[in-house]
Amino acid sequence: MTASSATAITSVKGRRVWDSRGRPTVEADVTLAGGALGRAIAPAGASRGSHEAIDLRDGGPRFGGWDVTEALRQINGAIARALGGLDAADQDAVDAALIALDGTPNKANLGGNATIAVSMAVLHAAAAAAGKPLWRHLWDRGGNSGTPVLPLPEIQIFGGGAHAGRRIDVQDFMVIATGADDYDQALAWTAEVYIAAGKIMAERGLLQGVADEGGFWPAFDANEDAAETLLRAIEKAGLKPGEQVAISLDIAASEFGRGGRYRLAREDRGMSSGELAEMLLGWVGRYPIVSVEDPMAEDDPEGFIAFAAAAPKHLQIVGDDFLVTSADRVRAAARDKTVNCALIKPNQAGTVTETKAAFDAAQAAGLGAIVSARSGETEDVTIVHLAVGWGARQLKVGSFTRSERMAKWNEGLRVADALGTAALPPKSAFPWG
Ligand code: PGA
Ligand code: ZN
Repeated sequence: MTASSATAITSVKGRRVWDSRGRPTVEADVTLAGGALGRAIAPAGASRGSHEAIDLRDGGPRFGGWDVTEALRQINGAIARALGGLDAADQDAVDAALIALDGTPNKANLGGNATIAVSMAVLHAAAAAAGKPLWRHLWDRGGNSGTPVLPLPEIQIFGGGAHAGRRIDVQDFMVIATGADDYDQALAWTAEVYIAAGKIMAERGLLQGVADEGGFWPAFDANEDAAETLLRAIEKAGLKPGEQVAISLDIAASEFGRGGRYRLAREDRGMSSGELAEMLLGWVGRYPIVSVEDPMAEDDPEGFIAFAAAAPKHLQIVGDDFLVTSADRVRAAARDKTVNCALIKPNQAGTVTETKAAFDAAQAAGLGAIVSARSGETEDVTIVHLAVGWGARQLKVGSFTRSERMAKWNEGLRVADALGTAALPPKSAFPWG
C-alpha cells in the first residue's frame, strides 16, 4: 500500500504514564492517515525471566531508577521516523521494521517496553481503521469462521514471592473455575472464593496487605498452608473443589532456585530439583491442583523433564520464565517434553508478531497457551482482545481486585455481550477435562 492510504502511519508518540506499582511506564499513540488512533501501554514484570525482552529503564536516582525517558526518546525519535509511512494494516512489516531498527535479540537498544507499546498501538490503530473491536479484527484476520469463545480465567487469591515481600516463597495461589458453564459464572464463583478466603484470613489473623497483583498477602508460616486455606475457601464458598473450582499455582521457581538447587526461605529449607518436584507433586496429590507454572527454575530443563515425567497426565505444566514467549523455546519445550502449556506475555517478546509466533508455535505443537498480564499493569486491556481474537483458551491477569485487573475481567464481559454468548472452550480442551 502507498503512504497515502488510510492506514499509513502518520505519527507515533510516546508519553510517560504510571502503572499499578506507581512506577513510570510507556504509553504509545499511533495515528493513521485516515484519522484512526491506536493506543497501548507497556506492562512490567517483577519476577522476570532472564531471556525476556529488555525493559529499558533509566536507572539513577529518579523514581528508584524506573524512569523511562530513554525508551520514550526512542519512540519519539528513531521509532517514529522508521514507522512513518508504513501500513498499519501490515503488522508483520511494522514489527519487522521495529526488530530491524533495534538490531539485538532482546530489544536491548530500543527497549521491549518501547517496542511492545508501539506494536500494540499499531494493532489498535489498524482495528480502529477497520471499524472493528480489536478482538473481531484479529478473529477475522486469522481467517476464522464461527464465533470465538471467551478464555477460561485463572485468577489469583493469594500472592507471594517477589510480589509480596517473599512472605511465602510460592508466587501465586490461584483458582480456575474448571466446572463453570460460562465466563460469567467463572468470575462469579471466583468472587465467592475471594470473599470466603478473606473471611478465613481475617478469622485467623493472617491478613497482612495486598500483593502486587491484588491478591491477599498472607502471613502463612508454610507454603502448603496457603493451598490448604484456598481449599477451605472454595468449600466455604459452597463450591465443589476440583469439580467446580480447582487450584492453580505459579511456583516462579527461578526466584528461589539456581543450578538445580532451591531454597524455601519461609521454611528455611534447601532442596534439590528432585526434592522440589516431590514436594510439589505431593501437593498435587493432596489438593485439587490442575495447573503448576514454572515448577522449576529457568536454568533447570532436566528438573522440568523429571517433573513432567512424574506428574499425573491431568496436570497442566506451564512455562513462563522458562519459555519467555519465544517461539523457539516453545518448540524446544514440545520436543523435550518439559511443559505442556506456554504462558504468553507480549512484553516478554517485545512485538505483537513475535508474541503471536510463540502462541502459534504452542498451538502447532499441541501445547496449551495462556495469555497473561504482568505484575505491573494499567488500564490497558489489549491482552483480553488478543486472547479472544487469537482463540486462546486461558487468560491470567492476577487477582479479582483492583482496577488494573478488573478492567481486563470486565472487558471480557463486554466482549461476551457483543458476541451474545459468554461460552468457554469445551472442557475436553484442557488436560484436566
Ligand atoms: P511478573 O509475574 O509479571 O512479575 O513476571 C507474573 C508471573 O510470574 O506470571
Ligand atoms: Zn509466572
